[in-house]
Amino acid sequence: PRQFFVGGNFKMNGVTDSIKSIVSNINNSKRDPSTQVVIAPPAIYLTLTRELADSSVSVSAQNVYDKPSGAYTGELSVEQLKDTKIDWTIVGHSERRVLLREDDDFVARKTKAAIDGGLSVILCIGESLEEREAGKTIEVVTRQLGAVAKVLSKEEWSKVVIAYEPIWAIGTGKVATTTQAQEVHAAIRKWLSETISAEVADNTRIIYGGSVSEKNCRDLAKEKDIDGFLVGGASLKPAFVDIINSRL
Ligand code: 13P
Repeated sequence: PRQFFVGGNFKMNGVTDSIKSIVSNINNSKRDPSTQVVIAPPAIYLTLTRELADSSVSVSAQNVYDKPSGAYTGELSVEQLKDTKIDWTIVGHSERRVLLREDDDFVARKTKAAIDGGLSVILCIGESLEEREAGKTIEVVTRQLGAVAKVLSKEEWSKVVIAYEPIWAIGTGKVATTTQAQEVHAAIRKWLSETISAEVADNTRIIYGGSVSEKNCRDLAKEKDIDGFLVGGASLKPAFVDIINSRL
């Protein structure tokens, strides 16, 4: 059985006061102990968040660089994250793929570097509206995964949580239907089984992201291939706890 996983991606939101109150709200909430909770504040608040959050809450970076150190202005290394007790990073979020032009190979290199350095990775994949309408959803997500599969060993997949985030559902209030999400999650699992191994397909969490709210999370969480969520907007609100408790 795969452990239910709920991530909160704060994106570029929050300042000291609001981050303190979001974290204290999570700390003081009644959370389903069987849900793994990981929150990803903006980089400058990672250490603050790590200091404040309960030990049962993991903290994630939103991004990391693929090189170990050096003249890479503005970037953060895997070692720096580990050094400051950060155990996770998001990689390949569509906002970075689109706005900062990160391609599949770059995302794959970051994934590999993160895992080599001892981090776990939330690997984001997902199609645009145009790609969906052209019937290319599965082709796009398996291409994105394929780049990562080229650089990871079978064992290293145990450090990856796959976040399926259709771009048209992110921040739009237009959540994928349970059928749409389940269909893609099942296709991803089948691809894992055929490309990596049946065991990796069985054990890898595939979580959904895109307009997840306290209203739609319960139905999505019932689908057999949806193992949790990556939450943007709602992770900044008390509703995040309801999403953590989707399966209660
Ligand atoms: P929203 O939940 O705000 O749609 O964002 C989803 C997302 O991109 C999480 O990484």
